Order: sequence, then structure tokens, then C-alpha cells
Amino acid sequence: MYFIYEKIIFIFKICHILRIDHIFQCAGPSMEPTLQSNNILLTEHISPRLNKIQRGDIVIAKNPSNPLQNICKRVIALPGDTVKGPYSIRNHVVPKGHVWLEGDNSSNSADSRSYGPVPLGLIKSRALLRIWPLDCIGSLV
Ligand SMILES: *[C@@H]1O[C@H](CO)[C@@H](O)[C@H](O)[C@H]1NC(C)=O
Repeated sequence: MYFIYEKIIFIFKICHILRIDHIFQCAGPSMEPTLQSNNILLTEHISPRLNKIQRGDIVIAKNPSNPLQNICKRVIALPGDTVKGPYSIRNHVVPKGHVWLEGDNSSNSADSRSYGPVPLGLIKSRALLRIWPLDCIGSLV
């Protein structure tokens, strides 16, 4: 256990030097079963800055309906893609500079189906690894 802890500290230091670190704790059930509420994620800032966000990525973004809150959702669609929310009959085309985000737990997630496409500028980082709990350490990409 102690050695795992030391390794994690070491990885953090490297990440900090490379400036790719951002630790994020998920709250809420919207990404179950992929992520649980206590999970802590290691995320990187590079992809959003370079516009390299892809479908399927798990991203941390500012909540469009409350800028003081962060959300953790999956990228479902990119600009130009067509999506259909379960509560809407109309198809939406995701506008330029936006993405469509949804939680994996679709019956329990406030996401693009309620607040619409999310501006790329609100995406802060992309999840790379779950680092807590220790017995669930693993890649998210
Ligand atoms: C979705 O969230 C609800 C409420 O927290 C939970 O009971 C349910 O198990 C979750 N669904 C999945 C697939 O994890």
C-alpha cells in the first residue's frame, strides 16, 4: 500500500512539472456505472486547448446553467453531428464551437438534453485516469 502511495505522489509530481495535472472529484450519480460519486480523476488540459476533444471522451466542464459548478460528462457529439434527445422530437445539429454532453446514467443526468449544446470554451479538461479508490485505478480513455 505504501509503495502504491509513493508511486502516486511521484506521478503527481511529474504531471505537475509537465503541467498536465488537474485533480477532479466527481459528485453525483450522472456518470454511473462508469464513475461513482467518490471517484477522483486525473485530468489533462491539453486536449481542450488544442481542440482535440473527441466523441467518447469524458470531460470536465463548467456547468452551463451554473458557472460556479463543474460537470463531468461524456462527449456524445461534435460540431456538425446530429443528435436526438429523448425529450425532443426534433433533431439538433450541434453548432460550430459546441459539443453535446450526456451522462452515462441517462435516466439520472442533467446534460445537453436539458441545457443544449455546450460551448467548447466551457470544457476545462479531459479525464485520463481514475486514481481513487485505489482498487479501481484505471484508464478512462
Ligand atoms: C443511475 O442513478 C440512479 C440514482 O442514483 C441509480 O439508482 C442507478 O443505479 C443509476 N444507474 C446506473 C446504470 O448506474
